[in-house]
Amino acid sequence: MLTQMRFDILTIFPDYFGAPLSCGLLGKAIAAGKVSVGVHDLRGWAEGPHRQVDDTPYGGGPGMVMKPEPIWKAIDAIRQDGGTRPLVVLLSPQGDVFEHRRARAYLESGRLLLICGRYEGVDHRIAEHVVDETLSIGDYVLAGGEAAALVVIEAVARLLPGVVGNPASVDEESFATGLLDYPQYTRPPEFRGWRVPDTLLSGDHAQIDAWRRAQAKALTQRKRPDLLERIRG
Ligand SMILES: C[S@@+](CC[C@H](N)C(=O)[O-])C[C@H]1O[C@@H](n2cnc3c(N)ncnc32)[C@H](O)[C@@H]1O
Repeated sequence: MLTQMRFDILTIFPDYFGAPLSCGLLGKAIAAGKVSVGVHDLRGWAEGPHRQVDDTPYGGGPGMVMKPEPIWKAIDAIRQDGGTRPLVVLLSPQGDVFEHRRARAYLESGRLLLICGRYEGVDHRIAEHVVDETLSIGDYVLAGGEAAALVVIEAVARLLPGVVGNPASVDEESFATGLLDYPQYTRPPEFRGWRVPDTLLSGDHAQIDAWRRAQAKALTQRKRPDLLERIRG
C-alpha cells in the first residue's frame, strides 16, 4: 500500500489552487509530506510574445480550442521530471465518469498528471493519442478543468493511509462499502421536536450496528438502486 501520492496539474490558471491546497485535510497532508502537488503553468510551454495556448476551431463554430503543441510539450517535460511516470488524465465532460473505484485505482498509480482544459476544450488529438485516459466529474459542463482537478485530488488523497485521522471513516463511508452511508446524528438528542432515533441513544452496539446496516441499505435502495444492483452483480 502506497504511503505517499504525487499530483501534477497543468493549467492556465495556477493561482486557482492556492487556498484549496492549503486548507483542511489536504493542506495538512501536503504540509506533512504525504501528498505533494506540482502546479504547472501551461503558458510556460507556449510560443510567441503572447504565449498563446488557444486558436480558432477548424470548421468554424463558437469559442476557442486549446492548441495541442504546448500541452504535448508540457506533458513530455513533466513526465521526465520527478521519478515515477505519472498516469496522464485529461479532464473532460466527454471522459469516463469519476467514481470511488477509479479514485482507488489512481491511488495505486502513485502519481497523477491532471490536464485542465478551458474554452471549448482541448484539440482532440491530445485525448486520442497523448493522454492515458479522459475523465469527467459528472454530466454537466464547467468553465474549466481546475475545479475537476481539485475534486479528483481530494477524493484520492483522503484514501491515502494517515490522511484521514481514523481509517474507519474512509472504509465505512458512502461507496467504499458499496452502499450509501447510514444517517449520522449528533447532540442535542432533540432539536425543534425532531428526535434522534432511539436505537442510537440506547448504548446497545449490536443493535446500533444492525440499525445502521439496515438504514444504509434502505437509503441506497431509495436513492441509488443502481449501487445495490452492482453489489448483486
Ligand atoms: C467549457 S468546457 C468544454 C466543454 C466541451 N466543449 C464540451 O461540450 O464537451 C472547458 C473545460 O472544462 C473542463 N470540464 C468541463 N466540464 C467538465 C466535467 N464535467 N468534468 C471534467 N472536466 C470538465 C474540461 O477540461 C474542458 O476542456
